Amino acid sequence: MLSDRREFFKGLAAYGLAAGIAARSQTAASQVQAHIEILPDEPIGTIAPEIYGHFIEHLGGVIYDGVWVGPDSKIPNDGGIRRAVIDALKAIHAPVVRWPGGCFADSYNWRDGIGAETERKPRTNFWGGTDSNAFGTQEFLRFSTLIGAKPYLAANLRGLPAWNFNQWVEYCNSPAGTTEGSKERAAQGHPEPYDVRYWGVGNESWGCGGNFTPEEYAAEFRRFTAWVPRYGQPLDLVASGPNSGEVDWTRRLLHALADKRQIFDVYGLSLHYYTWNLSAGRTTDWNLGKRDALKFDELEWYELLAQGSVMETLIRDHWAVMEESDPLHHIKLIVDEWGAWYRPGTEIGPKYILSQMLTLRDALLSGLTLDIFHRHADKVAMANAAQLINCLHSLMLASEDKFALTPVYHVFKMYMAHMGAQSIRTEFAAPPVSYDRNGKPGTLWGLSGSASVSGKNVTLTVVNPHASRALEAEIVVRGASIARGNGQVLTNADLHAHNDFQNPDVVHPDEVSVKLDGGRVIHRFPPASVTALYLALA
Ligand code: AHR
Repeated sequence: MLSDRREFFKGLAAYGLAAGIAARSQTAASQVQAHIEILPDEPIGTIAPEIYGHFIEHLGGVIYDGVWVGPDSKIPNDGGIRRAVIDALKAIHAPVVRWPGGCFADSYNWRDGIGAETERKPRTNFWGGTDSNAFGTQEFLRFSTLIGAKPYLAANLRGLPAWNFNQWVEYCNSPAGTTEGSKERAAQGHPEPYDVRYWGVGNESWGCGGNFTPEEYAAEFRRFTAWVPRYGQPLDLVASGPNSGEVDWTRRLLHALADKRQIFDVYGLSLHYYTWNLSAGRTTDWNLGKRDALKFDELEWYELLAQGSVMETLIRDHWAVMEESDPLHHIKLIVDEWGAWYRPGTEIGPKYILSQMLTLRDALLSGLTLDIFHRHADKVAMANAAQLINCLHSLMLASEDKFALTPVYHVFKMYMAHMGAQSIRTEFAAPPVSYDRNGKPGTLWGLSGSASVSGKNVTLTVVNPHASRALEAEIVVRGASIARGNGQVLTNADLHAHNDFQNPDVVHPDEVSVKLDGGRVIHRFPPASVTALYLALA
């Protein structure tokens, strides 16, 4: 036993914590294997609620049969919008929804999707097949209103002139009775402006959005946004940003925009990062690197979590490059597509392209990603999981009258207390995870998470990535005493556990009690788990 403890402290010393724990852990030192220190004096920034944002695109079963069932459907709906989706989103206070794409946005004309049913124009969908345009601007904005979220529209920069974008803004935002756009809007049942604040100017303009160079895109961005009507309201314009780690795009785009003093017209730079390459370094091929959503071994379990953790490096790297042209950081990061992307094979049906099963592993990816956003609350102004329903990193699955919440949804709910709170620096020290990475040593952090404070309430969220090892941790709040607490944990004995239409409640959060010990907490984090602790300070 003694030698175990020596080994334990020797290990901790390697990451500089032995002294701290030895000093504090008098009663529980024999149990404690990790240490979490929350530092209220070191604020990072307010956690924008919009970090908990969503994304819906006209793709497979996201809109049609996912969000939109139509007003004549037998499926419970509110004017055509699936009632279960509305209820689930209200329960997590969905702050913002991005629409209509994605790649779809740059081949979409909003004019095809307004007016009476008979005026809607079926068009070829970017992702295949025909889009009826039954779900258009009116339906999307009504959906946003019903769930209490802000709308975030993405304009077509590849296929339409800037004038079309101007008119869309006019249609949505011009005061009642003042313009042709406002009259059209009124004729379609909404005299008052919608006041849409967030506008994406194109999507993935380096790829499906036009194959532009950063300089070409900067010129297009200027043309689209110079003198776009504002009607006395600020517009938050989002420029199409980099794919994953491509800092060259960020550097050249911001340089080109700064050159013409356009920096002040950009609210955010979008960043897209999907966790897809689970080959453990064997390939960078987009198809070969992807693996199965349900059938995975321990290596792929750890690889997903390690690859997901790259998000932190991306935020840091792009932020540093942005500083070269925007030293005061006027422009924030908008991570408007993130999540796991597996290879095809677990779709909920043939027409639901890009749908996939989400397991406990994806719950951990959600937790660690949201924690990264909190740790960079000063940099990330919005994030949108891709995509809400029947797609990649979905919170919900729906097919006709069947509906299920995925493990990802539960994490969004467990983490809600962070929204709008002050993110505070938190130090985690825990023995790292070691795994076999195709014959080479792989390592992953032992525990990671984030903390925020609102008044006297601290929310601490923690991911334990180890497939089989629980960790007992001492949790202290520097300069304060914890008076009481409660919490929730999401885990399962089976790493592959998931919710589907037949078994919709296999993965769900459970209540956990919080063990207080003289103003600190001693907590056991089970293997393969996401935990949220809600702590009240004395
Ligand atoms: O989310 C699916 C697709 O991924 C989006 O349409 C596109 O922007 C990205 O490449």
